[in-house]
Amino acid sequence: MELGLGGKTVIVTGGGSNIGRTIALTFAKEGSNVIIADIDEAQAQKVAREIAGMGRKAMVVKTDITDFTSTQNAVERAKAAYGGKVDVLVNNVGWAKPVLFHETEPALWKKMIDINYVGMLNCTRAVLPHMIERKQGAIVSIASDAARVGEYLEAVYAGAKAGVVAATKTIALEVGKFGIRLNIVCPGMTPPASDEVVGEMSLWKKGTGGPGDLITLEMQERAKKVYPLRRLGKPEDVANAVAFLSSDCASFITGQVLSVSGGFSMV
Ligand SMILES: NC(=O)c1ccc[n+]([C@@H]2O[C@H](COP(=O)([O-])OP(=O)(O)OC[C@H]3O[C@@H](n4cnc5c(N)ncnc54)[C@H](O)[C@@H]3O)[C@@H](O)[C@H]2O)c1
Repeated sequence: MELGLGGKTVIVTGGGSNIGRTIALTFAKEGSNVIIADIDEAQAQKVAREIAGMGRKAMVVKTDITDFTSTQNAVERAKAAYGGKVDVLVNNVGWAKPVLFHETEPALWKKMIDINYVGMLNCTRAVLPHMIERKQGAIVSIASDAARVGEYLEAVYAGAKAGVVAATKTIALEVGKFGIRLNIVCPGMTPPASDEVVGEMSLWKKGTGGPGDLITLEMQERAKKVYPLRRLGKPEDVANAVAFLSSDCASFITGQVLSVSGGFSMV
């Protein structure tokens, strides 16, 4: 199957770390022009250097997806660098801190809703007028199986990701007539291959009380036993699904939610 992503301009938010890094590398391998829109510029530059090492093009735009103006700037920079067009947006940024809901505080809710839900709204709203004008475009947002079936210690994260799902379906209904498709990929547990591919702001960063501390190797072994395919996710599993949904091979697919989680959730 030829994905035809060569020469496409692709913005990957959070492309500096773990899954986003692999999504950026995957598009680069397909010959796309990649814009890594990450708040962690140093980590994003590492990925851009990896892409340059492959003989491909990548640009870093320091972006805070919780700030609408910053996301508009990322879109304008991408257009200016690559032929005045953006073909694909991958809303990949996410963040979670596992806490029992009855022990959470509103400040944590706000942070999780801003990063996981408002960020996706900002980026999507920033790119849509351009895609509507061109009457084409594909947007893939990364949610989570937590949005579909809930997840222990992740009430607010799950709710924010469920917002991503519902908003995406609604926007897909509204802009389908312009030839724009929006879909969602829900990873299961997808640990990074090494600490090297994890940024300072990553949810996998150790010593922050986040999933990187909670999800020990022992826990990963236990989790494998409840995944029907008996392994955890690899960033490549998610990136391949994103590349397919972004491509013309998926030209009749919109408003859909695809779990990439070894059969963990079968909604
Ligand atoms: N890894 C998993 O097990 C898993 C499971 C389910 C869903 N997900 C989702 O997949 C996506 C990627 O997960 P990951 O494990 O690669 O995450 P990660 O934390 O390793 O990477 C997230 C990236 O986003 C960047 N970022 C954070 N806040 C930002 C902001 N305000 N503006 C711009 N960039 C920002 C970080 O610098 C980092 O590079 C997320 O949406 C996550 O919720 C991950």
